[in-house]
Amino acid sequence: MTTATTAVTQREPELLGQTVVVIGSSSGIGLETARRARAEGASVILAGRNPERLKQAALELGAQRTAAFDANDPASLRSFFHDLPTPIDHVMVTAGAPRYGPPLEMPPEEARRGLTERPLLVLEVARGAADKVRPPGSLIFMTGTGERFGIASTASVALSTLIANLALELAPIRVNLIAAGFVDTPL
Ligand SMILES: NC(=O)c1ccc[n+]([C@@H]2O[C@H](COP(=O)([O-])OP(=O)(O)OC[C@H]3O[C@@H](n4cnc5c(N)ncnc54)[C@H](OP(=O)(O)O)[C@@H]3O)[C@@H](O)[C@H]2O)c1
Repeated sequence: MTTATTAVTQREPELLGQTVVVIGSSSGIGLETARRARAEGASVILAGRNPERLKQAALELGAQRTAAFDANDPASLRSFFHDLPTPIDHVMVTAGAPRYGPPLEMPPEEARRGLTERPLLVLEVARGAADKVRPPGSLIFMTGTGERFGIASTASVALSTLIANLALELAPIRVNLIAAGFVDTPL
């Protein structure tokens, strides 16, 4: 007869003592990221537009604080970062969505927003976070493997180059863009 022994590997939570800000954290990828950050010992700050959904997420996760605002509004974003307690360690942005559609068929205003909205959001977050994130923290942004067509693909190329430049400017803080495939979320 053999006796099976299970080796239990103990490890320290990876984000103990750190603060993670997730802009777009009342749902989907952002909410799950915040949930995992909490499980790794981080304190989390949640942001999104709908205060009720944020409240639910904050209750579930025991969030340090929440902020309800539209991340595409530069003034709101600036005041969010201005009011943040320091230091913070990581910022993830899942807010904002690509605009799909053939360039010539898209109404001009929608095309303008599709081309400018997300790069400007990234730039504004980087400006706001630069003095708040404790090195070697990180800024993480989202794009998707589906963004290969039309206006969304143009904006996605702009995002990649912008993020590479920000990474050089903000080093040793890391700046990364994640291109997710299909993720089963409310979106
Ligand atoms: N799911 C996928 O398959 C997939 C694949 C590749 C890339 N992505 C990208 O990943 C990101 C997150 O996707 P998801 O599936 O997690 O979406 P989701 O479930 O709809 O979650 C989006 C979150 O962002 C918030 N949000 C959206 N626009 C905002 C704004 N302007 N200002 C502030 N908060 C905002 C939403 O809350 P409120 O609505 O209350 O603001 C929500 O908490 C998106 O940019 C999406 O394009 C998703």
